[in-house]
Amino acid sequence: MTAKTPMANSAAMDTIETPAEIVLSAHSREAIDELLTHFPPEQKKSALLGALNIVQHENNGFLTETLMVAVADYLNLAKIEVYEVASFYSMYELKPVARHNVAICTNVCCMLMGSQRIVDHIENKLGIKLGESTADGRIYLKKEEECLAACAGGPMMQVNHVYYENLTPEKVDEILDSLE
Ligand code: FES
Repeated sequence: MTAKTPMANSAAMDTIETPAEIVLSAHSREAIDELLTHFPPEQKKSALLGALNIVQHENNGFLTETLMVAVADYLNLAKIEVYEVASFYSMYELKPVARHNVAICTNVCCMLMGSQRIVDHIENKLGIKLGESTADGRIYLKKEEECLAACAGGPMMQVNHVYYENLTPEKVDEILDSLE
């Protein structure tokens, strides 16, 4: 997976018309329906972030054009609205990625506390650069992560949904080696 993988794009979405009922699993539709109960019926767009989370989670951690079109169809939104959100927020992936999502914060506080040393260590250890996945499909090293609001614990990283703070190369080795 270190080779460049095509990324979802909005132009390709224009030509896709597959209805949501066919593309989205019953489980995804149920979860989105539950989400929609938290918002007024005319405010379906409010459920967009959550809907994309649900669909991405079920698709091994990334979104395709077809899935984004299906979400647009399900929430009665324009395709471009869904693409804009999915391509803006760093929590959505628009290309296939490895099982474990590792995001090192490189924003100012973490940078001052040594995040570059952590990035270099992980890149050397895994033999990949930021933005790439290991060939065994185990670890995806996110390209960039802005402040994750744990500045006092820098340098820090997020692995899947868990925060790890005050990182050292030794601590990083322990965390990464525990990922299956
Ligand atoms: S700068 Fe890294 S968590 Fe805030």
